[in-house]
Amino acid sequence: MKTRVCIIGGGPSGLLLSQLLDRRGIASVVLERQSRDYVLGRIRAGVLEQGFARLLREAGCGARMDREGEVHDGFTIAHDGRLSRIDLARHAGGQGVVIYGQTELTRDLYEARDRMGGTVIHDVEDVQPLGLTTPTPHVTFRKGDEITRIDCDFIVGADGFHGVSRRAIPKDILVEHERIYPFGWLGVLSRTPPVAPELIYARHPRGFALCSLRSQVLSRYYIQVPLSDRVEDWSDAAFWAELKRRLPEEVAAKLQTGPAIEKSIAPLRSFVAEPMRHGSLFLAGDAAHIVPPTGARGLNSAGSDIHYLYHALCDHYEKADDAGLANYSARALARVWKAQRFSWWMTTLLHDFPDASSYERRLQETELDYLLGSDSARAALAENYTGLPY
Ligand code: APR
Ligand code: PHB
Repeated sequence: MKTRVCIIGGGPSGLLLSQLLDRRGIASVVLERQSRDYVLGRIRAGVLEQGFARLLREAGCGARMDREGEVHDGFTIAHDGRLSRIDLARHAGGQGVVIYGQTELTRDLYEARDRMGGTVIHDVEDVQPLGLTTPTPHVTFRKGDEITRIDCDFIVGADGFHGVSRRAIPKDILVEHERIYPFGWLGVLSRTPPVAPELIYARHPRGFALCSLRSQVLSRYYIQVPLSDRVEDWSDAAFWAELKRRLPEEVAAKLQTGPAIEKSIAPLRSFVAEPMRHGSLFLAGDAAHIVPPTGARGLNSAGSDIHYLYHALCDHYEKADDAGLANYSARALARVWKAQRFSWWMTTLLHDFPDASSYERRLQETELDYLLGSDSARAALAENYTGLPY
């Protein structure tokens, strides 16, 4: 097989890039290890910054998001039994965020690829990016008994944190930075009306909690749990009881509970691999960086990578201008690190750190006190939460 851009990974990053490129007449092939049903069964986050929403529209995939997604102009921080609203729209030039599940967005991207006749090959095994620093970059993969080679100009590693692409960069070139947090998030999806119209991030001595939503009939809740907890240890009743304990009374009283449609524990991790380019290989999204979910930056950081890479590839093919490709890693990483900083900050602000000293705890309280008392501190939060410019 032959194509211009071979994309490893059919998550949101890989699909969005192939969709954008196709609309400019640049051919690509997407290789995905899992089946489409498996990819669409994963429950992920649901907060899109306006820049990401614009990119989806540019890809011709924004119609359902614009119809069914909710624009949120703010969210609430719950602490010490009180509620403090962060007015995103006021602080961030009228911009809120769009609440639209990543699962739905991925479905829209797959449907768009189908409509345009895009090639997405599922259930591939032993994917290998090869010849990265030679004039003949190529990818080999196995499907069943058959081994296929795809010759291409560029390889994009959009295969998530556990993918193969990052590992194809030699160890003496790749630098990995990591922080593991001493807790995870236990998440529950339930077919119940959300407890509040906007998201509530709750700081509590028993641990962090988040009330989120997918729609007016579908809610998503999380509580901070120790890394040693297993999801089997948490009955639905125990989850709801613990969530209520961490919310101010007026919120807990309104919480409508129901059976969990999905329940899972995700550890919290910050991770960046750099550089994001090696020869003909370009990393994008979770393949290169992970954030804890507290600042809702994961998918949005993948979006800015795709924006830079898409424009760099267009410049290469349409103007024979390779400056964007040469600068991709540095430009993408500059924004990625700002999202890392913000996610670390918001995680540190709102969680209970079991080993924190009394000094660190007092600083954490002071950070929150400063934030809620300062218009400019709230503006900085809003600027980062709604997305720094590309
Ligand atoms: N070969 C082919 N595909 C692979 C391989 C491989 N060796 N390894 C992983 N994949 C596939 C995974 O099955 C997955 O569908 O790559 C895809 C990567 O998708 P994601 O993990 O969703 O990563 P990405 O597309 O970068 O999405 C951005 O932002 O909010 C966060 O984690 C959230 O998924 C989200 C991410
Ligand atoms: C979610 O709805 O899953 C969600 C929302 C906001 C976050 C993290 C997760 O910060």
